[in-house]
Amino acid sequence: MIEGLAARMTDISSFQVMSLLARSRELEAQGKRIVHMEIGEPDFSTPEPIIVAGIRALTAGRTHYTPATGLPELRAAVATYYQTRYGQKVNAEQVVITPGSSGALLLALGVLLNPGDQVLMADPGYPCNRNFVRFLNGEPVSIGVEAMTQFQLTGDLLASHWQPTTKAVIVASPTNPVGSVLSAKPLVNIAKAVRQRGGYLIVDEIYHGLEYEDKLPTILSIDDQAFVVNSFSKYFGMTGWRLGWLIAPQRFVPAIERLAQNIFLAPSTPAQYAALAAFDESTMSVLQQRRDEFRQRRDYLVPALQALGFTIPCLPQGAFYIYANCSGLTDNSFDFCHTLLEEVGVAITPGADFGDQQAAQYIRFAYTTNEENLREGIRRLTKHLASIKL
Ligand SMILES: Cc1ncc(COP(=O)(O)O)c(C=O)c1O
Repeated sequence: MIEGLAARMTDISSFQVMSLLARSRELEAQGKRIVHMEIGEPDFSTPEPIIVAGIRALTAGRTHYTPATGLPELRAAVATYYQTRYGQKVNAEQVVITPGSSGALLLALGVLLNPGDQVLMADPGYPCNRNFVRFLNGEPVSIGVEAMTQFQLTGDLLASHWQPTTKAVIVASPTNPVGSVLSAKPLVNIAKAVRQRGGYLIVDEIYHGLEYEDKLPTILSIDDQAFVVNSFSKYFGMTGWRLGWLIAPQRFVPAIERLAQNIFLAPSTPAQYAALAAFDESTMSVLQQRRDEFRQRRDYLVPALQALGFTIPCLPQGAFYIYANCSGLTDNSFDFCHTLLEEVGVAITPGADFGDQQAAQYIRFAYTTNEENLREGIRRLTKHLASIKL
């Protein structure tokens, strides 16, 4: 323990995938070619119309602070997007523009949590959620979820884990690392379970738009008191611009604004001007093509992995991840990932990054690289697995 370091930092860990990423960089520096299937962001760069709008903003000198809640035109554009995409009325005043959905999560939890408050979340799940809660001196409660419920929380699971100190619940649809979704029915059950107990529901819709089967409902069409976090990062291909949004019940917005003023001052100004082009038809058609490509990659990779002996208990319906059970091939997914990187140059993420539940039996493949690279990855895996079976 470093002297002076806050006690909470012992509970805030970095990701295993970071050490794998650092090692793959070393191997690449030695001239080895690595197939990357660990990266959680689109390989496509930001669509042209957004880049053009960003450059235009910079040359026009749009480099000063905006209001803490974001540019009013962008808040209005996000509200309009809910009307066009979901047929859902959202007031622009409920939309707060944030530094990524990470900023949105911090603001939502920041206005909700008192020290010791519990927040229920799924394991496996997005690892930062529990660390946000710890940072705010709340208590993350990870609930082990199974393939039977699509690795999602359910109303019944919430009911059986609810405690007097439970304040909020975080769910995501589609999820990282599984890519499973919540259709209207399970969402209704979740919303009811939370409402009946006087809790608050936060729904992470960051992978909305990247859905491959049915169109997903926003939680707002089911529960207008829920908090929605979303982002320009994934579907809109703007990870590095650091821009997202929070939609909150109106009564919380003044507190969110106060917190945003103090923590961030404002989201990035050029990024906000750029994002004004994100909902244009020209951008949307590029985004739809990209989504179709992600779906093609998924449709290639799922059967290819199954043929190699991985089991995929939940066919991903969104995002760009496959959560594969590797227990037929190894009893330690962490070592397995390290071996694959060292011996065959394939980088994937061990289950341990997403929680404790059966983590040693799972790995996450990200199809955030083109099909040629995916095919090369499968070729290497095939050769390696054949050699260890000998
Ligand atoms: C489920 C989920 N939520 C939130 C985030 C944070 O993304 P950002 O802050 O770039 O919007 C990520 C990033 O990987 C994610 O997978």
